Amino acid sequence: MKIAMVGAGYVGLVTGVCLADFGHEVICLDRDADKIRALQDGIIPIYEPGLAELVKANTEAGRLSFSHEMKAAIGASDVVFVAVGTPSRRGDGHADLSYVYAAAREIAASLEGFTLVVTKSTVPVGTGDEVARIIAAENPNADVLVVSNPEFLREGAAIEDFKRPDRIVVGIEDERARAVMTEVYRPLYLNQAPLLFTSRRTAELIKYAANAFLAMKVTFINEIADLCDRTGADVQQVAQGMGLDKRIGAKFLHAGPGYGGSCFPKDTLALAKIGQDNDAPMRLVEATIAVNEQRKRAMARKIVAACGGDVRGRTIGILGLTFKPNTDDMREAPSIDIIRGLQDRGARIVAFDPQGMAAAEAVLDDVRFADSAYAVAEGADALVLVTEWNAFRSLDLARLKSLMAAPVFVDLRNVYRAPEMVRHGFTYASLGRPDAAMPALAGQGEAAGIEALLGELTAGT
Ligand code: UDX
Repeated sequence: MKIAMVGAGYVGLVTGVCLADFGHEVICLDRDADKIRALQDGIIPIYEPGLAELVKANTEAGRLSFSHEMKAAIGASDVVFVAVGTPSRRGDGHADLSYVYAAAREIAASLEGFTLVVTKSTVPVGTGDEVARIIAAENPNADVLVVSNPEFLREGAAIEDFKRPDRIVVGIEDERARAVMTEVYRPLYLNQAPLLFTSRRTAELIKYAANAFLAMKVTFINEIADLCDRTGADVQQVAQGMGLDKRIGAKFLHAGPGYGGSCFPKDTLALAKIGQDNDAPMRLVEATIAVNEQRKRAMARKIVAACGGDVRGRTIGILGLTFKPNTDDMREAPSIDIIRGLQDRGARIVAFDPQGMAAAEAVLDDVRFADSAYAVAEGADALVLVTEWNAFRSLDLARLKSLMAAPVFVDLRNVYRAPEMVRHGFTYASLGRPDAAMPALAGQGEAAGIEALLGELTAGT
């Protein structure tokens, strides 16, 4: 099957290369000629484990190619995927669909023969209808079906997620699309991955609902962690006890500094907006957004409290900057707000991240970047573990402590255990664990802030 992938960003690249690996003939298209040239030379613009190897193997096998010439590639394809960005629109939080609609117009002009146009980008309910309308208006003779096929790839595990998905969701309005999409995903289908066919609008909503639910689950356990800090319960055991209930499940119950990344923040915001627009307010999602937003800066206050209430002139070392491990992605990373919060209180920041420092440099001011966890520890008055990279899971604690000016360790991912940290002479704080409780904060300010944020969110559009 001949497939064109419009948009060689994160989703387009991973999807394209994996489909090529299934044996399809895939051409990845992007307007950015520099990016395409780099890809043709085997340079991958993002860090994703296993991606570079897979690109190389499939390019060499002649199944995968890259181009910035849309027309010929689209004309020759049976299926055209749209995998362009849908960022939050500045000012109002709605998903910005300008790239999707521009792609639809460009595709319309190049279609030849029966073609499926498949939207991978995360788009509000009804976008598929608009894409179909645009294509029909631009090219009334086109024999085309518009399909929704949302992605559920986690950064850092995207290839594994693609090859072993929990499900594949395909939204169609015409039965002719079913056979083509079954053929596209046949290797996965044979692997027993359920192929769920729904209406196009339903598929579009499944993506937002799934991401918002996961964001809500993370936020819920984060609030439970705060409650554990105040009541002496242990959040890891609470999560375990909850997770053993099959109706709840154990995943996405790790307390942390708040969710970030390219999906949860923008998708929750977009879903809240879709709810408001359709007179069906998503109140739980709105609360999730507000609570998560507050949490990131609250983490900075907790670090200050762990340092004895004052960080002016002190050096705080940050371990991990990306929003999660195994990515170089700094979008909406909690580290950004945490670092700014600490700087606002007069702290000096030194940081290390295994992959994210180039991206971090672009968004953070006045941060000194070091080249290892130990270089961060040198002379630091406190260390804060923000992102749980494997490199930070078995640090040489004795060495770390010997390098530090003061042995304060704040563990925002609950990677270490209090007894061993105390044995090594650290003052240790983590989230929601009784033997290493974060100093409690007066809650008033936070609650008031949440009310204000919720007010802003719900005050019409
Ligand atoms: C997410 C979805 O999982 C994926 O299906 C979707 O297509 C894109 O968005 P991703 O953003 O790559 O993927 O990361 P994910 O692993 O889902 O984590 C999201 C955020 O939640 C991260 O900031 C992570 O640190 C946080 N998180 C996750 C927790 O704090 N605790 C958890 O238990 C799980």
